[in-house]
Amino acid sequence: MTAALLTPFDIGPVTLQNRIVVAPMCQYSADDGSANDWHHQHLMMMAMSGAGLVVVEATAVERRGRITHGCLGLYSDDNEAALKRVLDAARRVAPPGTKFGIQIGHAGRKASTARPWEGGHGLKPGEDPWPTVAASALPLTPDRPAPEALDAAGIARTIAAFVQAVERAARIGFDVVELHCAHGYLINSFLSPLSNVREDGYGGSFENRARFLREVVSAVRAALPARIPLGARISATDWTPGGIDGDDAVEIARVLKAEGVVYVCGSTGGINPAAKVPAAPLFQVPFAERIRREAGVASRAVGMITTPAEAEAIVADGRADLVALARGFLADPRWGLRAAAALGGEIRLPPQYLRAARLLSPPH
Ligand SMILES: Cc1cc2nc3c(=O)[nH]c(=O)nc-3n(C[C@H](O)[C@H](O)[C@H](O)COP(=O)(O)O)c2cc1C
Repeated sequence: MTAALLTPFDIGPVTLQNRIVVAPMCQYSADDGSANDWHHQHLMMMAMSGAGLVVVEATAVERRGRITHGCLGLYSDDNEAALKRVLDAARRVAPPGTKFGIQIGHAGRKASTARPWEGGHGLKPGEDPWPTVAASALPLTPDRPAPEALDAAGIARTIAAFVQAVERAARIGFDVVELHCAHGYLINSFLSPLSNVREDGYGGSFENRARFLREVVSAVRAALPARIPLGARISATDWTPGGIDGDDAVEIARVLKAEGVVYVCGSTGGINPAAKVPAAPLFQVPFAERIRREAGVASRAVGMITTPAEAEAIVADGRADLVALARGFLADPRWGLRAAAALGGEIRLPPQYLRAARLLSPPH
C-alpha cells in the first residue's frame, strides 16, 4: 500500500504529487528585495528535495514590509525579473510535476529588524532603520519605536500592494500563492487583541479584527487567476492569555475558507516575544488537526516534525493533509527523497543521480 505521505493531493486546481512541503524560509540574503545567486542555489536544491510543493520565503508586498534589509520583495520590476530567473531555473531541474509556491506578506511592526545572525534586534540609527506600520501604535518590544497605526487610506494602499505583489507572482509563474497571516506580522497584528487596540471597524470584536484579513484575502483572490490556488499560514495561538487561541484559529480558518483559501497552515506564536512556547516534537500538529476537522478546510501541519514516520502518521491518521518541514530540509535537502525511500515509495531522483538511489534507501 502506498504511504499516505506519498499520495497526491489537490489544492484547488493544482495537484501536488505528495504531501511533503518545503516550508517558507527567509534567507535574509536579497538585494533590495531581489533574489540573487543565493536564492538561485537554495531553490535549485529545494527543487530536487522530493517535496511535492516548495514554498518560497516570506516575500514583502512593499519595501517597508520587509523584515530585514535582506528579505525578498515583490514591489518592483527588478524584484519580479530576479525572482523569475530563479524560479525558471528551479523548474528546469525539478522532477516533473514539482509545484512551487510563494509566501506573500508584510512584516508590519516586525519590519526594520537586523538579520538573525546579526542579532535580530530592531535596527538602530546607523543601521538604516525605517518607520514601520501596524494595526495599532504598539511597539513589538519597549526598545523599538512605535509603529504607525494604518489609517483607512493606509489600509487601502497596503491591500493594493498585496494585489500588485500577487499579480507579479502570477506573472512569474508560481503555481500556488500563500498569504502570511502568522508570526506577528501585519495581518496577524490586526487579528490578535494583543496588538490590535483599534476603536474603528478594524478593532474590537473578532469580526472587526478579522476585517483586514478578509479584505486582503478577497482582493488577492479576485486578482489571482483561477489556476492559482490561495493558501494561508496563521498563528493558531499567541501562547499568551488574552491572545488568540485554538478556538479563534478555527474561526480564522473558517473566514479564510469562506474567502476562497484552499489550505491553512497551523503555525503559532510571534506576536509576543516574551511568550513561553512549549516547543516539542509535533507540538503544533493539534492546531492543524482542529483546523481540518472543525473548519473543514485542508490543513498543513508544521513544527518540529523530523522523521518520515512522524510525517506519515500525521497524514495517515487524518490529522493534516500536508506536512511542512523547514529546518529538516536545510539539514538534509534530500529529505523528501529519503522519506520516499523509507516509506517504500518511488524515489524520484533526477536521472543524472540515479546511481545513488540505493544509498538513499534505509539499511535492511
Ligand atoms: C531559516 C528559517 C526561516 C524561516 N522563514 C519563514 C518564513 O519566511 N515564513 C514563515 O511563515 N515561516 C518561516 N520560518 C518558520 C518555518 O517555516 C517553520 O514553521 C518553523 O521553522 C518550524 O518548522 P521546523 O521545525 O520544521 O523547522 C522560518 C524558519 C527558519 C528555520
